[in-house]
Amino acid sequence: MAKKHTLGIDIGGSGIKGAPVDVHKGEFAADRRRVDTPEESTPDAVAALVEQMVDDFADEIGADTPIGLTVPAVVHHGVVRTAANIDPSWIGTDADDLFSQRLGRTVHVVNDADAAGVAEVHFGAGRGNTGVVLLTTLGTGIGSALFLGGELVPNTELGHLEIDGHDAETRAATSAREREDLSWEAWAERLQRYYSHVEDLLWPDLIIVGGGVSKKAEKFLPLLHTRAPIVPAQLKNDAGIIGAAWHTQHLG
Ligand code: BGC
Repeated sequence: MAKKHTLGIDIGGSGIKGAPVDVHKGEFAADRRRVDTPEESTPDAVAALVEQMVDDFADEIGADTPIGLTVPAVVHHGVVRTAANIDPSWIGTDADDLFSQRLGRTVHVVNDADAAGVAEVHFGAGRGNTGVVLLTTLGTGIGSALFLGGELVPNTELGHLEIDGHDAETRAATSAREREDLSWEAWAERLQRYYSHVEDLLWPDLIIVGGGVSKKAEKFLPLLHTRAPIVPAQLKNDAGIIGAAWHTQHLG
């Protein structure tokens, strides 16, 4: 295979998943690989596994092509600034610099929801929408990505809106549904409260719902009433990897 693809790697709480991506088509160019996130998921421990993954994909990616990585945190100009659901030692890490040094090539690190949003806006449910598009990911936390005319406003962090005295993601993320064993109906009530609040603040033209649970969208999306259409993400679990690769390729 010609070495022309960009590697996208999604660093999550339970797994590190990566695949070479055809950034023109927005699809994987080879099967994805996954390793467990180490128990102590410090930047150095994660970097060692990422290094191994890059070696494993050596035949599919260009020797100098940049690599895109996602983390579930605010990434402000390459520096990780929060750590709601990852090891706190990430805070203050210049992740662009750390991974570029370790991997000997340009690496861009991006917030996980921003990466998923970029993929959906270019290749999935938000394709062609020139208005305000909001992607939310429902998982361990709630991630958000906001676009106007396809351009990302990075690090919106709308999962941490305070609603009824709570950090919203602690009540409405998939992890809250599982932890409290909520029925789809009970969870949908919480999502309704969340999306109504978000809509009152931002008035999006389209809301896209991502995260693993979007595979079961028919169980809860029909229970929600929003002004804007609310639709499931189309790229499902691949969105973070595809978006990370697209993003890094376009930053150069
Ligand atoms: C983090 C976000 C992240 C989201 C989804 C939140 O807790 O603050 O940065 O995008 O979880 O992983």
